[in-house]
Amino acid sequence: MEHSEMIDLIQSHRSIRAYTEQEVSESAIETIVTSGRWAPSSHHVQAYSIIVVRDKDRKKQLAAYAGNQKYVETCPVFFVICADYYRLKYTSEKCGQPFEASELEQVIVGAVDAALVAENMLLAARSLGMGGVMIGGIRNNQEAVAKLLDLPEYTFPVMGLCVGYPAQQPEQKPRLPERAVVHYEKYDTSVMDEALASYDEITERYYQSRSEGKRQDKWSQQMANYFAKPNRPEVEVFIRKQGFLK
Ligand SMILES: Cc1cc2nc3c(=O)[nH]c(=O)nc-3n(C[C@H](O)[C@H](O)[C@H](O)COP(=O)(O)O)c2cc1C
Repeated sequence: MEHSEMIDLIQSHRSIRAYTEQEVSESAIETIVTSGRWAPSSHHVQAYSIIVVRDKDRKKQLAAYAGNQKYVETCPVFFVICADYYRLKYTSEKCGQPFEASELEQVIVGAVDAALVAENMLLAARSLGMGGVMIGGIRNNQEAVAKLLDLPEYTFPVMGLCVGYPAQQPEQKPRLPERAVVHYEKYDTSVMDEALASYDEITERYYQSRSEGKRQDKWSQQMANYFAKPNRPEVEVFIRKQGFLK
């Protein structure tokens, strides 16, 4: 495999959920959000917004809304990355054009834009010695998050991002083997059984070593449990309420 500083940074990823007391400076925040803004964007719509949250009480509220995820409160800075068509509607109307954003396509574009921005931000933060974790938990209660942050119509929170200086260095979580996720020329379903069985062995060992033998878990079973019930059905209700999918 080839190597570069960038590749090493990308491939040494692990989510960081514990932070030192060290503040994240204004200039570091500016660097992180500017790096987010340089993400590519479908049709150059730039259908996202970033809300920078440093206020302790506001972070506490967001931590509760995200399902009591304490690190949303304890991280020095929390970013909420939203899909955002509010300014696109505004500018369309100013140009005297009808504004049409009712297709699923627009929801996908906004969510993809937000995700690309968020990953750029996390990589920028990590390159400056910080660490972080993305927080999909803010979609547990988008309505309350939107109210707390004054989000206008045609926006919805996609994910949060905790950032701070790491107070932990967890073992890297093993990824699916390459043969399970990368196909050359054509999709090959025949590799699936063997690839997943070998990943289950790897993840079982990982959870056992992380829990000193206490946790018996495998990736396949985790996924089966997760997909045995609907997940966040209220997300669609909120997105519709904000003006999408009409
Ligand atoms: C969009 C997104 C949302 C996530 N939401 C949460 C979350 O709400 N809480 C959390 O602790 N981790 C969250 N994570 C982190 C994942 O759990 C983590 O990336 C995954 O388990 C792999 O671990 P690693 O990042 O340490 O390699 C999220 C990650 C992504 C990409």
